[in-house]
Amino acid sequence: MVKVITYGTYDMLHYGHIRLLERAKALGDYLIVGITSDDYDKTRGKINLQQTLMERIAAVEATGLADEIVVEEYEGQKIDDIRRLGVDIFTVGSDWEGYFDYLNEYCKVVYLPRTQGVSSSEVRAEKRKLRIGLVGSTVFRTKFINEAKFVNGVEVVGVYASAKGTEPELNTLYYTDRYDALLERVDAVYIISKPENHYKHCKEALLAGKHVLCESPVAYTREQCQELFALAKEKNLILMDAIKTAYSTAYERLILMAKGGKIGRVVSVDAVCTSLRDGISIEGTDLSKKWNSMCGWAPAAMLPVFQIFGTDYRRKLYYTMFQDKSENIDAFTKIDFVYGSGVATVKVAKGAKAEGELIITGTKGYIYVPAPWWKTDYFEIRYEHPEDNRRFFYQLDGEGIRYEIVAFAKAVDSGRNYSNVSEEISEAIVGVIEDFNKRQNMIELI
Ligand code: CTP
Repeated sequence: MVKVITYGTYDMLHYGHIRLLERAKALGDYLIVGITSDDYDKTRGKINLQQTLMERIAAVEATGLADEIVVEEYEGQKIDDIRRLGVDIFTVGSDWEGYFDYLNEYCKVVYLPRTQGVSSSEVRAEKRKLRIGLVGSTVFRTKFINEAKFVNGVEVVGVYASAKGTEPELNTLYYTDRYDALLERVDAVYIISKPENHYKHCKEALLAGKHVLCESPVAYTREQCQELFALAKEKNLILMDAIKTAYSTAYERLILMAKGGKIGRVVSVDAVCTSLRDGISIEGTDLSKKWNSMCGWAPAAMLPVFQIFGTDYRRKLYYTMFQDKSENIDAFTKIDFVYGSGVATVKVAKGAKAEGELIITGTKGYIYVPAPWWKTDYFEIRYEHPEDNRRFFYQLDGEGIRYEIVAFAKAVDSGRNYSNVSEEISEAIVGVIEDFNKRQNMIELI
């Protein structure tokens, strides 16, 4: 019996795939199809597949051409599969000509002519693009513009801000200083205006029937936050809190491991985020244009706390050193959260510096994420005996921003929620900022 193997992503199965599978099958008696896992595709830069692994497997199965399906999960797996499954022929389309010659050592390699005129990328691109408008003048917006280029199916088309920026990335975009003019031209907005304006900008966009991706916090009070989510629901629109950390694979996995009991019962979560880069402590800086440490850093820092312990804390206490109290700019804030089953601290600063690490303490061991943990591709699980320690590495591209844009575009497309930040957590974050603004339970450092 001649065994043939072929590999692919098979997103939105089209006749080019089917023809390839038919010809592959005809090369022998038994066809094995390797289908790439979502994670492996992510590391290969294929980030916005329309279908999940299970859907792609089901589609290949439905062709009736595969005698066996394997999932391709890692670099180098092909050699493993060929040996393990006793494969005689490896085949793929001619777009890979020469690329897999190294497999000749293990079996025969055949490149089959690719069917002209069709590809998954084209099928994906045929759909009308989601036109996104940017709201605000923070420098971070250029990162968003650059990251959106990696996501097919979306297009940043314009910017609304009080003044046109000088960044070269903005050159080709439509610019307006009227919000309604931007809203008319887009399907969705990415809001990165000053936090006190988020509520207003979100609400206007939703009322105009536009989807919203908004930097955290989405509002300044819990009540406003609930109103926004209710409005989005009522109008069948997506409102998503933009915290890029939530889209780092390493971060997602470490949260699952903490919740899955890998370090025993979690008793403490300690997250630190600081940077001096924003220059709030430089003499003469226009603080009215700056985000404070609370809004700039605390949403990301609170994410692991709320994802692990939930949002129902018993008490919290702020320790804050203000840079300028009238502008509500804190140079440093530490928040202690007390839960029934554990405690957490969040330390954020734009006017002080500390090691930006995340430590999750458990009864059997701890998770250690080195600085800068909020855009990490790496973490360790450490135990009493160092020989038991484990290290984990997951590739991260674009600090998570491009995956966040993919999740947003998918949500808009399907009407389903693909956000990694739950509504409950968005609201809890807003609540912590609301109480900070009210100076509730705050010890001021002078
Ligand atoms: N294939 C083919 N003819 C096409 C498209 C794909 O023969 N028109 C083959 C590829 O060469 C590969 C297999 O089908 O052996 C699976 O390809 P895959 O990468 O999943 O599909 P593409 O349509 O090429 O996807 P993309 O556009 O995302 O690269």
